[in-house]
Amino acid sequence: MPTLLTVAGSLRADSWNAKVLAQAAATVPSGWSIDALTLHDIPLYNQDLEVDGAPAGVAELRAAVTTADAVLWSSPQYNHGVSGVVKNALDWLSRPAFAGVLVGKPTAVIAVTPSAHQPMETLGQTEFTLEMCGAVVVRPGVAIGSILEVTDASVVVGDAAAALSDLVARLCSATNGDVSVAP
Ligand SMILES: Cc1cc2nc3c(=O)[nH]c(=O)nc-3n(C[C@H](O)[C@H](O)[C@H](O)COP(=O)(O)O)c2cc1C
Repeated sequence: MPTLLTVAGSLRADSWNAKVLAQAAATVPSGWSIDALTLHDIPLYNQDLEVDGAPAGVAELRAAVTTADAVLWSSPQYNHGVSGVVKNALDWLSRPAFAGVLVGKPTAVIAVTPSAHQPMETLGQTEFTLEMCGAVVVRPGVAIGSILEVTDASVVVGDAAAALSDLVARLCSATNGDVSVAP
């Protein structure tokens, strides 16, 4: 059974990015399973820690990415960019250089903020770093601003909801080599 791994980039208990990520993942095609991880157990990157093998949380994340057929990330927008939590995790996954677990892996990104400013910088920066890690990035991802205006009881509705399910459909079909990029 193919598996979609979700990685929530916010550590906040009531995170919008985690909620929206879970809603998106729930639209996987039938026959897919979902594996969900957070980044609470990922230490700050330190090359010295690689000497004795990866820390447990990193090993768990690497194993989950290896097993997954596709990986869907979400990141909050911090100071008009990707959160350090997400960048830090991607730095771990980028090692060993040019041979990390993301090489060739279909991935996509969601970024959500309550503010009116659409978090395009976070989306672009996360996609760029994934690409530098060798991942196959399914674009465009979904950047949702003004999240309170497109939710009903915390559930995303309308066009934003359609954009989420469309992204998941494109990501899952990328596992068959179908990586079409919208104009
Ligand atoms: C350090 C920090 C920087 C932030 N910078 C931005 C920003 O540049 N743009 C923005 O729209 N929101 C910004 N925010 C607000 C976050 O988007 C908001 O807290 C959001 O709910 C975080 O995502 P989460 O709900 O998934 O935890 C910032 C929040 C923090 C804590």
